[in-house]
Amino acid sequence: MSDERPVALITGASSGIGAGIARRFAAGRWDLVVVARRRERLEALAAELAPQARVEVLVGDVRDPSLPAAAVDRALAAFGRLDCLVNNAGAGKWMPVGDTDDATLDEVIEVSLKAPFRFAREAVRTMKQGSSIVNIGSVWGLVSGMAGGPYAVVKAGLVGLTRSLAADYGPRGIRANLVAPGVIRTEMTDAYWDTEYFRRTNQELTPFHREGTVEDVANAVFFLASREGSYINGETLALDGGWTYTRYLSPAALAR
Ligand SMILES: NC(=O)c1ccc[n+]([C@@H]2O[C@H](COP(=O)([O-])OP(=O)(O)OC[C@H]3O[C@@H](n4cnc5c(N)ncnc54)[C@H](OP(=O)(O)O)[C@@H]3O)[C@@H](O)[C@H]2O)c1
Repeated sequence: MSDERPVALITGASSGIGAGIARRFAAGRWDLVVVARRRERLEALAAELAPQARVEVLVGDVRDPSLPAAAVDRALAAFGRLDCLVNNAGAGKWMPVGDTDDATLDEVIEVSLKAPFRFAREAVRTMKQGSSIVNIGSVWGLVSGMAGGPYAVVKAGLVGLTRSLAADYGPRGIRANLVAPGVIRTEMTDAYWDTEYFRRTNQELTPFHREGTVEDVANAVFFLASREGSYINGETLALDGGWTYTRYLSPAALAR
């Protein structure tokens, strides 16, 4: 990266983790192209970040095959460069395989696997040495679990996409990494958050004293995209307080 401001393209920036990532990059003096379907949310975000960053709003559905090229073109037209793609837009659909109809399967694959693939394909055509792609996976793509169904499938697929990109474009100095959050309170998880099932399968299995936040995810994504992360390539980072790689049980769970 030169000393000019770097530029990030962030999908799904209209809420939750994507909006948090946009805020973190803006605070880090990056300019942004933000993509999602809800125009008013994106415009509010752009207005909020205006003191810190130039923000281009692109309204669209990531399932539209023409959107990736339009997004990369927007970055080049507005800023002349693209330094990071964050494939964040995702559809949260959790159900057992046997309950998943084709329409749901297609929707989840289109939004959370084909779209990131197409955005990455378009980005690497333009990116220069020092650029990177960060895919937002999930711990469900690492360990899966009950009712993982189509969601676990596409998030595991993103791990493969990340490593393929790392191998093919690493030699050009373009890195690819994946951040796999555990549960983070956003619109996607809000309805489940206070249920007994959620508490027991998340808090009671997490060896840490607090819940993960949007800011935790955003900080990790920013680090991976930054110069400080410049030798990290093909990596999968579980961002979950230890949920994935420990077999922790809380004292309450142990006592039952
Ligand atoms: N929250 C968690 O616990 C958690 C854990 C692990 C991984 N994740 C992943 O983190 C990412 C962000 O999720 P979140 O928790 O922040 O949920 P969220 O608040 O519901 O955000 C989802 C974002 O994706 C966008 N999006 C969804 N479908 C889209 C489409 N067809 N076209 C364009 N944009 C679309 C939404 O924008 P519009 O509706 O405006 O289009 C929104 O900005 C997802 O990939 C999710 O799988 C979340």
